[in-house]
Amino acid sequence: LAGVPSPQTEEHPLAIGHRGASGYAPENTLASYRIAVSLHADYIEIDLQMTEDGELVAMHDDTVDRTTNGSGKVRHMTLAEVKALDAGSKFNALNPAYAKAEFVGEKVPTLREIFDAFGDSTKYMLETKIPSDNPGLEDKLWALVRSRGLENRIAVQSFSKASLLRMRSFDNDVPLYQLLWYTRRAAPLSGRTLSDIASYADGVGANFSRIDEKYIWKVRRAGLKMLPYTINTRSGMRRALAWGASGLHTDYPDRLKEVAP
Ligand code: G3P
Ligand code: CA
Repeated sequence: LAGVPSPQTEEHPLAIGHRGASGYAPENTLASYRIAVSLHADYIEIDLQMTEDGELVAMHDDTVDRTTNGSGKVRHMTLAEVKALDAGSKFNALNPAYAKAEFVGEKVPTLREIFDAFGDSTKYMLETKIPSDNPGLEDKLWALVRSRGLENRIAVQSFSKASLLRMRSFDNDVPLYQLLWYTRRAAPLSGRTLSDIASYADGVGANFSRIDEKYIWKVRRAGLKMLPYTINTRSGMRRALAWGASGLHTDYPDRLKEVAP
């Protein structure tokens, strides 16, 4: 396709460990991130929410109900309350093939703990979740990243343009990805939307099941990277890369490394 870098001329496709290696371990836990790093994911993807007392924790949903033995909204719980939860046992019950005794009692990690555990041994794809519910999240995030000297090891993604603009206000170089979610094929994407995204972000993330080759071509033609989510089959990975994806989010980073070593 004209104007788009061919897979041969690009760097290797980015393997983004979605919520860690969440096919193999409880999502957004240290166990999951450890496995993703051991499988050579280029980034570990971390969903961020804020507790009532202002700590950034790795949690996808706004409540703890789906992934832990607790219930309630993260933003209405203190860090101590979140830390009392078991974030591993539900994974074991739902995934007998990958269940491990050591996952029982796995804790919800703070971003501080994740940075402590991995330092500059990996890169971090940080997703700012529900910014309207988590005011000040970006400021806390950037302060923590700076205090650890990890400015060059992170990228930030969000469904919220406002959240990405806030991150851009702190730094011109941090890679930013605008997340988009489509409910139908073929996902529409206007030139106006693309040039707007290109004015503040470096790339787009979109749900792979609703996009096609033309969509990826348009994103790449706008000079943006394209990171579809979440692709877990090798055939899907091959297709996304053949269409020009810059990398992809997967629960199984080893599969992408097999497909595109
Ligand atoms: O990584 C992109 C993807 O994480 C966005 O969707 O719902 O898994 O956070 P979600
Ligand atoms: Ca995410």
